Order: sequence, then C-alpha cells, then structure tokens
Amino acid sequence: MAYNLLKGKRGIISGALNSSSIAWKVAEKAHEEGATFVLTNAPIAMRMGELNALAEKTGAEIIPADATSVDDITNLFTKSQEILGGKIDFVLHSIGMSVNVRKNIPYTEANYDYFQKGMDVSALSFHKMLSVAKKLDAINEWGSVVALTYAAAQRTYSFYNDMADIKAALESIARSFGYHYGVEKKVRVNTVSQSPTKTTAGSGIKGFGDFFDFADAMSPLGNATAEQCADYCITLFSDLTRMVTMQNLYHDGGYSSTGVTSTILEKFGIDS
Ligand SMILES: NC(=O)c1ccc[n+]([C@@H]2O[C@H](COP(=O)([O-])OP(=O)(O)OC[C@H]3O[C@@H](n4cnc5c(N)ncnc54)[C@H](O)[C@@H]3O)[C@@H](O)[C@H]2O)c1
Repeated sequence: MAYNLLKGKRGIISGALNSSSIAWKVAEKAHEEGATFVLTNAPIAMRMGELNALAEKTGAEIIPADATSVDDITNLFTKSQEILGGKIDFVLHSIGMSVNVRKNIPYTEANYDYFQKGMDVSALSFHKMLSVAKKLDAINEWGSVVALTYAAAQRTYSFYNDMADIKAALESIARSFGYHYGVEKKVRVNTVSQSPTKTTAGSGIKGFGDFFDFADAMSPLGNATAEQCADYCITLFSDLTRMVTMQNLYHDGGYSSTGVTSTILEKFGIDS
C-alpha cells in the first residue's frame, strides 16, 4: 500500500545491482511513494545490464558513477539536478565491498591495499557524496541522506572481517557530517543497521547462510527483509522523520537488544 510519502521529492539511489539488492527495493518503493530519482552504480556494475529493467520500471535515468571518484560524484549530483529539475531531497548510499572478504583473507592477516580499497569504496565514498552535495548545495533543507550498515560496527562478528571497521567508520561519518550539514543546511544524515539479507554482497561473506538462520532465531521478530528495509528507508526520506539525524538506527527485528531467545536455548537443549 502506498501513502504518497515521497510525492514531489527528488532522489539519488545508489547500489541497485539486481532484484535482490536492498537499493533495488528502495527504488521500487520510492517510485510507489511518488518520488522521481536517478539510479547510479559503478560503471562495471552497468555491464551486467540488469539496472536497465529497474530504470524502465521506475521511469528513472541511470548515471554511472564510481563512488570512490569525486569527479564521478560531482557529475552525478550536477546531472541529477538537471534531469530531475531541481535540488535533491533524498540520497541512498547502498554501497559495500571488501576485497579481503572476497578473497577470504583472515582479518588478522589483512592485505592493507585491499583494506584501503574497502574503506574507500564502502565508507569514504559516503563522505565524498556528502561533501560534493554540500559544496554544490545540491540537497534541499530537511533533505535526508541514508547509508546502510551492519551491527558488526558495534560488536565483533568473526566472519565480518575488515568490513566491521569500515562500517564503524561509515557510522561515524554519519554523525560527524550530520552535525555540520545539520547546522549549516538542515540536511539529515543517518545510517540504517539492517539484518543479514540474502543479496550479492551479503552472500559473499563466508558462512553467511548459517549466520542468517542464527540471526533469524536470535531476533524476536525474525530477520528484517530487504523490502522491509526499503520501507524503513522511505520513512527516513519522508517529512515524518524531520528531526531524526546523526543516528545509527537498527532495523533488525529486535536482534540488537536481545541477549538470547528461547529458540536458541532450545537448540542447545536448554529448557526455557
Ligand atoms: N546483505 C546484507 O546482509 C546487509 C546487511 C546490512 C547492511 N548491508 C549493506 O547494504 C548495502 C547494500 O548491499 P546489498 O546487500 O544490497 O548488496 P548488493 O551487492 O546488491 O549491493 C552492493 C552495491 O555496491 C555497489 N558498489 C560496489 N563498489 C562500488 C563502487 N566503487 N561504486 C559504486 N557502487 C559500488 C555494487 O555494484 C552493488 O550494487 C551495503 O552497504 C551493505 O554492506 C547489507
């Protein structure tokens, strides 16, 4: 059911790779809620071609941008305003990649070139987007910028590798930049900490399948899906959350506040 929550709003949505991507669901929901937006992804992701189907479905144009390139991001914000006919109201940062994870390199033996690459792609890209947007004064007052993150930024998950440190940096950027952007332009900046979700990035993590089931059993409401995450992002882009900024917001079915559930205890043969 749509509520017209984003009627008249203009956005930029990064990170839709295929129909499993969280960003893909955000784009579908934003379209349903009346927004117009530009889709963006790394040029290499374009070659896979799936994004065209989403663009067609949502009436969006695609602007390729490598999120590590300030030039590409500048082009993205400049062209998006031209295409959409004015300043931007919402931005989704849905970008994550770790070469150490991809290559299965243990955290304690991290390759530092890969570490820096992961940091650049997955965290500094958020700073770059915010910095370019602010310099160009491309976001309207009360505009909303959201990046996706994971609870490994707060607590250790052995399999999450260097992405844990990278997500901690991402969340810190939301607070630090959120302060300055809030004071100067009343722009809001938040991160959403999502449950494990079966996407290309998620499934690239070793042992993800088993952990997905564990998290599901550890969450009073179960794991939140990509669609539900998209719903939450829409509320953050809407005018209903105008005073929410500089927050890391858990969207995880209660997982982050749970010590243990009876489902988990039963698996250990403990009567709860
Ligand atoms: N899947 C999960 O379990 C989960 C849980 C919590 C948070 N997240 C976060 O959600 C976000 C989206 O991931 P997803 O799970 O939808 O997976 P996904 O693989 O569908 O999306 C990741 C996107 O990052 C893009 N990307 C990679 N390098 C880029 C670059 N240099 N420039 C521009 N884009 C680039 C990819 O092309 C892809 O579209 C990520 O930040 C991820 O860490 C995912």
